[in-house]
Amino acid sequence: MTSTTMHEAHRRVAVVTGAAAGIGQAYALRLAADGHAVAIADLGPAEQTVRLIEDAGGAAFAVPTDVADPDSVARFARAVADRFGGADILVHNAGIYPVVAFEETDWSTWRKVMGVNLDSAFHLTHAFLPGMKAKGWGRIVLVASTAFHTGPPGLVAYAASKGGVIGFARSLAAEIGEFGVTVNVIAPGMVRTPGTLAGRQHELGLFDKVLAAQAIKRTGTPEDLMSAVSFLTSDGASFVTGQTLAVDGGVARL
Ligand SMILES: NC(=O)c1ccc[n+]([C@@H]2O[C@H](COP(=O)([O-])OP(=O)(O)OC[C@H]3O[C@@H](n4cnc5c(N)ncnc54)[C@H](O)[C@@H]3O)[C@@H](O)[C@H]2O)c1
Repeated sequence: MTSTTMHEAHRRVAVVTGAAAGIGQAYALRLAADGHAVAIADLGPAEQTVRLIEDAGGAAFAVPTDVADPDSVARFARAVADRFGGADILVHNAGIYPVVAFEETDWSTWRKVMGVNLDSAFHLTHAFLPGMKAKGWGRIVLVASTAFHTGPPGLVAYAASKGGVIGFARSLAAEIGEFGVTVNVIAPGMVRTPGTLAGRQHELGLFDKVLAAQAIKRTGTPEDLMSAVSFLTSDGASFVTGQTLAVDGGVARL
């Protein structure tokens, strides 16, 4: 199958960042199940996600990419253009969440968190928005966290970066609505992923603490986020923009 016929066989082309594992993998699988071709940008190898999509009859490819690096994002965007002719949907999920007290947070950690979580939204939107505007249709979904709303200790840089993402989406929404492009934010709550299970979240007992504050008394899974991304990237969501959708078992009731 040529790249052109592959593109035509799919409804839309979706870029998903950080889709090698965790919630990003769930987003990629759901978007593929919705009929979209999927292009993955992840620092690490995303072959498992690509294989799961291809085994189910979908189209996907992955390019090792650092979303904090504008040159790396530009290379990824060129690969997406070569393979699928551009992107209609951008789901920017890649993120890091080191748990460090503010006074132990050095400048390089602060910059790294801002680079991966917030500067990346700038690079990726610059890379993919022009193509969406030209087509008169686009969906941008950025990923924040209800940690922005609840403000737990040890996450000053993280909460600041995710608050930045929400502000970014609100203002951008006002600029691009007239072009048929929406931008919304998903704010997950505490979810069991490779990242949270390997990080200090687990060791500090944050799963239990957050669970106590939830209206729905079970810990979230990556699958709990799938319907939100499906809705926000659908044709039916064309009148929804600038919003933050908390998917957190009812901790932050926005
Ligand atoms: N898991 C949670 O409880 C939770 C809660 C709220 C928000 N979030 C947000 O959801 C997103 C995904 O979280 P997760 O728990 O699935 O994470 P994870 O650590 O399990 O997976 C993140 C993925 O992003 C990739 N990644 C990291 N830095 C990157 C970079 N610079 N460039 C490209 N890819 C990079 C990693 O390789 C990995 O595949 C993050 O933005 C996170 O802040 C997660």
